[in-house]
Order: sequence, then structure tokens, then C-alpha cells
Amino acid sequence: MSIPGQSEGAAHGAHDAEPLWRPDGPDLLIHADNLVAMRALPDASVQLVYLDPPFNTGRTQHRRTTRSVRDPEGAHLGFTGTSYTRTVEALSSYDDAFGDYWGFLAPRLIEAHRLLRDDGTLYLHLDWREAHYAKVALDALFGRECFLNELIWAYDYGAKARSRWPTKHDTILVYVKNPATYSFDSEAVDREPYMAPGLVTPEKAARGKLPTDVWWHTIVPTSGAEKTGYPTQKPLGVLRRIVQASSREGDWVLDPFAGSGTTAAAARALGRRSISIDESPDAVAVIERRLGLVAQRLGAAHPETPR
Ligand SMILES: C[S@@+](CC[C@H](N)C(=O)[O-])C[C@H]1O[C@@H](n2cnc3c(N)ncnc32)[C@H](O)[C@@H]1O
Repeated sequence: MSIPGQSEGAAHGAHDAEPLWRPDGPDLLIHADNLVAMRALPDASVQLVYLDPPFNTGRTQHRRTTRSVRDPEGAHLGFTGTSYTRTVEALSSYDDAFGDYWGFLAPRLIEAHRLLRDDGTLYLHLDWREAHYAKVALDALFGRECFLNELIWAYDYGAKARSRWPTKHDTILVYVKNPATYSFDSEAVDREPYMAPGLVTPEKAARGKLPTDVWWHTIVPTSGAEKTGYPTQKPLGVLRRIVQASSREGDWVLDPFAGSGTTAAAARALGRRSISIDESPDAVAVIERRLGLVAQRLGAAHPETPR
């Protein structure tokens, strides 16, 4: 079986004798290429995976072209649903740039899928440019029946285009590993104010309403305690909702593109445990400070990681 990126190296931890992760262990921060790190973790170990990858990184050294995914031996990759190879070829013919990006992302999504527990959920955070290709690709990887939601995170800041509708949203695609057993707790989610509170009872207005699949939420405020200084930091409020709905206290939450550690911060505040992976020394330093963790280093990190 041929998987793009599979030959990128085996995991050799700083402490080879000890397992990298234990179900009863502490929160984990790994300084590594996430493909190497995820391959070092056992099957079905986490409840929730949130991925916020950089787009169009311009890095060719970590990508594989469609050559390997055209290999008929690699057609199914153990997933339910339609042929991965066929879908990736179709995607590549639509858009070479996405095909290249997919060559980077696909092996990481395959690992994320392997690491999910049977009742677990994956959130893939993308911008409007690649979300539609990714939907098709994830349908092929997980199976269409595993698609749960397309979340729109809408914000409003910065300059606005005059030649088209200003693009002020990100898309988060949500897939469950098993549509029959996945876990989702809507009651646990932070509520939001009604748009027209005068139309509901005062009790309802005071309680707030359940968020829908469109989340109006500010970006990380440019000043204030939440800001870490990491350029692509996502708001804690967005990650809180994800963690609240799709994991329970004590569960393990994985973020392979951890950045400033927002997922781990939300997980800790909500009594979950976290595995954060990033290959950027800057990101790792921010997470160490933010969460009081000491990173474990695996393999060679890439110095000029794009964000
Ligand atoms: C968009 S940022 C994530 C931001 C994060 N969600 C937050 O709230 O701060 C993407 C991160 O992925 C990391 N990254 C990119 N490629 C990676 C790889 N192959 N392995 C590990 N980390 C990677 C970058 O260093 C960057 O920190």
C-alpha cells in the first residue's frame, strides 16, 4: 500500500525506552513533524482531533505528488466509502495546487483517522479557498455518512474588498469516525445571546441559545490576556465549543498543528487531556509558556515552518 508521505521517517523519541504517550499520562507537547509524531501514537487513543493546517505552504520537501496516490495498490487505505485514489486524482485534475496540498494533508488525515476512538470526531479548520475540495476528499476518506457538519466561523475585522463580497469566514468540516456511536453533547456547549431576545421569554433570553452551524465570534482580541502573539492563534471561544460538544471530561484531545496551543488551553480549562504537536520552535516555545509544559522532541524539526 502506498500512502503519500509515508516514507518521511519513523518516530524516534528523545526517550526511546519510554512510550511517548500513556493513557494515564500527563498532557503531552511534541516538537516534531506531525506525521512522524502521529505515527508514534497507538490506534484509537484520542476522542477528538482538531486540525488547523497552514495552506499553500510552498514547502515541497514534505509533500508527495499524485504519483503515489495513483498506485492502484493504494486505492482503499482501509477506509470505508469510495476510492481514495479516484477522488484524489479527480481533485488533482481540478486544481494542481490543491492536489499538491492534499499530498501534504492526506497522510496526516489518515493518521488522525487511525488515532480516533470509535466514538471520536475530527474537526478540519480551513479557509474558503480549499474547503470545497477538502469536503470531497474527506467524504472519500471517512465515507459520506460520517460527515456531521460544515461549521462557518464568521468574524469581521480588517480591510474589506470592494470588488467582491469581503471574505470574512473560515470553514470547519466535522467528521465522525462512526455515525452510529459518535459522541456529541449539545447541552455542554457555551450558549450565545439571542439575536432578538425580546421574542423569547426572559428565562430563555437569560440562558442564551444553542449555537447553530454558523458561529459569529471575534478573532483573538489584539490586546488582552488571551493573546499569545502567535500570528495564526485561534480564539479560545471557538475551541471551547468544539471540545465541549465532542469530548467528555478526562478524554484525550489531539491537535497536530498546535500553533499557540489554543486547543490544549481549551481542553485543560474543560478537564480534558491534550496532545499538542508542532514543528515550529516558536510555536513550541509559546505552548510551553502558555501551558507550563516541556516539549518532547522527535526527529528533525523544520526550522522555517510557515504559519
Ligand atoms: C494555522 S497554525 C495553527 C494555529 C493554532 N490553531 C492556534 O490557535 O494557535 C498551523 C501550525 O501548523 C504548524 N505546522 C505546519 N506544518 C506542520 C507539520 N508538518 N508538523 C507539525 N506542525 C506543522 C505550524 O508551525 C503552525 O504553528
